[in-house]
Amino acid sequence: MIGTSNGRPISITGLGCYVPERVITNDELSKMVDTSDEWIVERTGIRERRVAAPKEALSDMCIPAARDALEQAGVDAADVDLIIVATVTPDMFFPSTGAIVADELGAREAAAYDLSAGCTGFMYALAQAHGMISAGLTNRALVIGGDVLSKIVNWQDRATCVLFGDGAGAVLLEPTQDDGFFGFELGADGAGGVHLYMPAGGSRLPASPETVASGQHLVLMNGREVFKFATRVLVSSAEKLLEECDVSMADVDVYVPHQANVRIIDHATKKLGVPEQRVVVNVDRYGNTSSGSIPLALADAVADGRLAEGKVVLMTGMGAGLTWGSALMRWTANGAGKA
Ligand code: ACO
Repeated sequence: MIGTSNGRPISITGLGCYVPERVITNDELSKMVDTSDEWIVERTGIRERRVAAPKEALSDMCIPAARDALEQAGVDAADVDLIIVATVTPDMFFPSTGAIVADELGAREAAAYDLSAGCTGFMYALAQAHGMISAGLTNRALVIGGDVLSKIVNWQDRATCVLFGDGAGAVLLEPTQDDGFFGFELGADGAGGVHLYMPAGGSRLPASPETVASGQHLVLMNGREVFKFATRVLVSSAEKLLEECDVSMADVDVYVPHQANVRIIDHATKKLGVPEQRVVVNVDRYGNTSSGSIPLALADAVADGRLAEGKVVLMTGMGAGLTWGSALMRWTANGAGKA
């Protein structure tokens, strides 16, 4: 799916993020599984990650992120009419974490639901909220991306447990005087789904003592296949979208790729010809936070001054599904320029 923005002008007017307090370093991990700081840094670029407390669920991370986004935009939760939570680690199967978040925030007028697209979830949710505002179905949409992968990772599997971390980010989308979004490109390759999945707990393989004992409620990943897929789609999705929007890579001020592995990011950066200083990398501090990854990286780019009003930002996510998604926009997140 690809398209340029041609409806009501819409942009991001607020951004907020949350990561749990607890830090797990590579050295700490090397006491839990047969690994080392040297291996993890060399193969992934990750140095540490945040991990939720035992009682901390996804909504506990989404709510502070959403509150910060609303505060930045100067909008009351009661005036939000759509909440989408992109995640593969909801508080529970149902009710949706979106509905739980809406209730906690006091967003009584909002439609609220969850969206499942792996690490690409935030990009899918962004496109969906944009489309619904553009069509006039909604006015103010909170798009939240977050995951608590620490709860479904196999802490005895060194090939996966070193990669992931927990975190969430939220943005508010509203009609604005000038359009922030240029366009979106989204895709899915279901045939590749077996390379990154959690087999049990759904209707295919309902929870049973056997599924629990055999570790089928945990993340299973074929790292090499996911690596090949990720390096391919980060480049192809960005190239397709830039062409569709008639924007050249040279006009992109800030590049925000999904933070899975610094080698994947380096590969895409070189292929796309993005100067290093324009690439946002925080996988060293957070690991792969799945749907939280892109908003957390946006927040870092705002904090270091690279993502200021008027800058053109290209974001691309990829993950379970297998899925991918890109968005191209002019940054406006300061509550200014509202329609
Ligand atoms: N510490 C030490 N050794 C390890 C570790 C570890 N943590 N993990 C694997 N190894 C070993 C392997 O057992 C293997 O040993 P062997 O040669 O004796 O068999 C060796 O290291 C090399 O393993 P590879 O899998 O070939 O290592 P590679 O360089 O491919 O890196 C990695 C593995 C980091 C998982 C890489 O494939 C990768 O990043 N893939 C993408 C994963 C990803 O991003 N997933 C998330 C996608 S987004 C989403 O939706 C969640």
